[in-house]
Amino acid sequence: MRRLVSFVAVLGVVMTASGPSAAQALVDPASEKRIDALLAQMTLEEKIGQLNQYSSNLDLTGPAPSAGDQKRVYDQVRGGQVGSLLNVVGADATRRAQQLAVEGSRLKIPMLFGLDVIHGYRTIFPVPLGEAASFDMALVERSARVAATEAAAAGQHWTFAPMLDIARDARWGRVMEGAGEDPYLGAQVGAARVRGFQGRELGALDTIAACAKHYAAYGYAEGGRDYNTVDISESTLRNVVLPPFKAAVDAGVATVMNSFNEIGGVPATGSAHLQREILKGEWAFQGFVVSDWGSIGEMVPHGYVENLEQAARAAIQAGSDMDMESRAYVPHLAGLVRSGAVSEKLVDDAVRRVLRVKFKLRLFEDPYRYSDAAREKQVLADPRHQQAAREVARGSIVLLKNEGGLLPLDKAAKRIAVIGPLAADKDSPLGGWRAQGQDGSAVSLLEGVKAAVSAATRVDHAQGAALTTGRRGFVYELTFNTSDRSGFPAAVEAARGADVVVMALGEDAFQTGEGRSQVDIGLKGLQEELLRAVLEVNKKVVVVLMNGRPLAIPAVAESVPAIVEAWHAGSQAGNAIADVLFGDTNPSGKLPMSFPRSVGQLPMSYARKSTGRPGQVPLVFWSHYTDSPNEPLFPFGYGLSYTTFSYSEPKLSAPELAQGGELRVAVTLTNTGSRAGSEVVQLYVRDLVGSVTRPVKELKGFQKVALGPGESREVVFALKPSDLAFYTAAGLFEAEPGAFRVFVGGSSRDVKEAGFTLR
Ligand code: NOJ
Repeated sequence: MRRLVSFVAVLGVVMTASGPSAAQALVDPASEKRIDALLAQMTLEEKIGQLNQYSSNLDLTGPAPSAGDQKRVYDQVRGGQVGSLLNVVGADATRRAQQLAVEGSRLKIPMLFGLDVIHGYRTIFPVPLGEAASFDMALVERSARVAATEAAAAGQHWTFAPMLDIARDARWGRVMEGAGEDPYLGAQVGAARVRGFQGRELGALDTIAACAKHYAAYGYAEGGRDYNTVDISESTLRNVVLPPFKAAVDAGVATVMNSFNEIGGVPATGSAHLQREILKGEWAFQGFVVSDWGSIGEMVPHGYVENLEQAARAAIQAGSDMDMESRAYVPHLAGLVRSGAVSEKLVDDAVRRVLRVKFKLRLFEDPYRYSDAAREKQVLADPRHQQAAREVARGSIVLLKNEGGLLPLDKAAKRIAVIGPLAADKDSPLGGWRAQGQDGSAVSLLEGVKAAVSAATRVDHAQGAALTTGRRGFVYELTFNTSDRSGFPAAVEAARGADVVVMALGEDAFQTGEGRSQVDIGLKGLQEELLRAVLEVNKKVVVVLMNGRPLAIPAVAESVPAIVEAWHAGSQAGNAIADVLFGDTNPSGKLPMSFPRSVGQLPMSYARKSTGRPGQVPLVFWSHYTDSPNEPLFPFGYGLSYTTFSYSEPKLSAPELAQGGELRVAVTLTNTGSRAGSEVVQLYVRDLVGSVTRPVKELKGFQKVALGPGESREVVFALKPSDLAFYTAAGLFEAEPGAFRVFVGGSSRDVKEAGFTLR
């Protein structure tokens, strides 16, 4: 066996990193001077205008503004009353809108154009949860880079991404927009996406400003119901929820969006603790905070303030700089300042932050620099973007089961049946929040399979049953097909006698995303029934899952030999899945979120606390369910390969780690199978005793390692005390001395362990 040189990965220090690079720093003395000069010229109304953002009603991403509104909006733009517009789409439209501000308003301050570019602009990449499954930060960064290149060429300056909400409840429809349940992975992915969107220099023509959202704890909504109440401890906030935001700030993120939820009785939009103390204070964030859509006004129904005027006051005082569609700042802030209820200094600071981003984007040099129709046309048609989408999609796929080595399939098989509601679907693979991805433009699984197989292979297709009935789309409630089985016989006939059946099951694109919470996270409609009918005539079934959230599918997992988790994989979905099905790509993704056995186990995470009664005892008095195991169906970090890997026992460089020192954890990884493949080697720790109890395992590092058949490599992680730091009972970020366990392996469940002491 060949032995390769060992290498050391220095772990990302999540909470103590040094801050953005010089190129990404938002403050530079020359623009600060120009901002001073501008502020000196601005009337109070013009200042407040910079803090005002409206939506164009071309594209709705929140409750609809009243009809006929557009003209009023444009009049206000000319009056210098609008600092930013969202949902204005395309080089021409943004140019025309910009003209109103630049030619029509007194101070000619350019507007910022923002859009939800969540996983691609025109070329659609896998949903962010899927990309996180790649555990490949270069891939994640590349996807954001392409999205930024396209969006910037089409007039956009700013995306409302990445979403950094840690989510441990798959009922919440927005889990698809984030990186899953883990703060360490979330921080790595968040920073990679900020780097991808903002590039090396925000002023470059192929970059856009990123927005870390939703600040904070939006993913902790009670019952997984969107917009619902959040009530978590300061320890959970600091140790679990905030690390990805801190990482984004350190990566130089230009903006932050606050969130709809309250935390402990205070709406995030009105929380000075979150926005002033932590974000702008402790972390010294220099960009601006935009409210979420209408979240300033929503402090009224929250029961936190009586009216919009009080809401405006609470929001600006708490540090919410820009008002997205609450229409609270323009009518009320000036009066609040004039009456002395709000200090003009707060307004000046907020305006300064907004102008900083505009300077950084070099909009004062040329307000139209992003709005170039010729460049837009050329960039959106770039074939390299489709290639990138295919590569990212295949890197995101997770192999969940492969009994008897059914996969990979033979391209020369005689007959393959491709069945299921999503088999020929060219739309759902685009997922939710698809920006300017064109509906129905994805490569379907059926197309991907047909393109991959030999000329002699017959590919039979049958839908079996539709997933939804009636209207579908971003703003509609979905209805599922629970009665039309008329396609069953054709599906059963296609399956009978086929060499293999590939069944595409999962979720409609619009089952996940904003406002898409569910109490049932199994396969909706007739999907399981269809699968049972197919299994009666052919057991060689590969289930391909297309979905935006973890699914509870214990019966499916029992009954079929192979399962491929493909997520909503984007424009190139079918080709990327075929790459995996036929073995051109050896899958290497790992789950970024636990798949529960049932919704009743939620919320769940591998990084749970021990409780006082963790272990099974002869009687019932321990922490468990009487009708289900505690364990998930598929744990965090889990994913198979067409080859196999073995891990040696971890070796530590010393039994102790001193403050200021470094401990090396080494493990030998061997590819014990007959194919080349990549494995995500994961490092977890457990701090056995803490002033605040610590989780039973916490991810602290990972490395994706490619090995040829029979090859071995020593993988080394360097652990520093700062990697063990957490927000302690004393309110400090520090590592507490004592005993630790360290675990290395291929999932959060399958690990080998050792111990050390922190002095
Ligand atoms: C509301 C969503 O919560 C947020 O994520 C999005 O960016 C805004 N709408 C703008 O569309």
